[in-house]
Amino acid sequence: MDGNWENFISLNSHEESTFETLPAAATHYEADQWKRTWEKLDFQDAVERDVFPLPRTADREGYYGENHFSYWASGLSDTKDLLDAAQLHDVEIESYLDFGCASGRLIRHFGVQHPDVQTYGCDINRLHVEWCNRFLPSSIKVFQNHSIPTLPLPDNTLSLVSAYSVFTHIEAFETSWLMELRRVLKPGGIAWITVHTDATLKAMDEKWPLYRAVQRHPKRSELLSPSNEFVGDRLVLRYKTDTSYSSNVFYRKEYLERNWSRFFDILDFRHRFPRFQDLIILQKSK
Ligand SMILES: C[S@@+](CC[C@H](N)C(=O)[O-])C[C@H]1O[C@@H](n2cnc3c(N)ncnc32)[C@H](O)[C@@H]1O
Repeated sequence: MDGNWENFISLNSHEESTFETLPAAATHYEADQWKRTWEKLDFQDAVERDVFPLPRTADREGYYGENHFSYWASGLSDTKDLLDAAQLHDVEIESYLDFGCASGRLIRHFGVQHPDVQTYGCDINRLHVEWCNRFLPSSIKVFQNHSIPTLPLPDNTLSLVSAYSVFTHIEAFETSWLMELRRVLKPGGIAWITVHTDATLKAMDEKWPLYRAVQRHPKRSELLSPSNEFVGDRLVLRYKTDTSYSSNVFYRKEYLERNWSRFFDILDFRHRFPRFQDLIILQKSK
């Protein structure tokens, strides 16, 4: 890597992929070691309707390892949570963008289960964009975005934006991205953004996916106290090798309340929702 992280993550790999896919979700239920987790999710009709292939583990950021049904069900469950929140806050969902959609964990469910919603996805990773546009329902529009905050969508287009595990990696242009999401939302539209905070960092134990990466970070003892406290508003842990770049960003909750409320009304803040991150629900003023 030539040290230019933006190039590295936006152009990540010029290689072409053969994109072998996995069969539709229903076929993976029996073999899934976490299938019981989804007993309360009313998934029967949804899984029968979704005949589209699933991405291989390597094509979906490693989510759920070899538990392919769980990968699919987690997207259905998150979709239900999003729609429940929209209903709770009286927002009618006509149009939706999943920012940092990867290979479509959420948008596939909007495309299959809620075809009346105009659904968009975007990602900085070109291969994810190609995967979605090759294998997901053609009503979904998926595009690549640049690392510089700009989305090729008109002002006031969307009723709902989600960003799951994306602001957890955005260490540059955070406030510009907030402004850009605000621009494309309609007045009254909501943004559902998951974040790492000082509280998630303190709650973390060895069962958490990020635990080892944090504990083994070369600057751990310089940046964090033994009980995982940090100084200042934001902690960025960078992981750089010759062939890859990634980072994890942790915000102090008071920082989010103080600064993100400059751009949006904060409707809700949920600790550990989903399990390993905190959730902030924002609304563009009506
Ligand atoms: C941990 S994955 C989460 C994927 C997806 N949101 C989900 O929940 O299944 C993070 C995703 O965000 C994307 N990403 C990271 N920085 C981004 C940026 N600045 N703009 C758009 N996507 C970004 C990555 O390429 C990756 O697909």
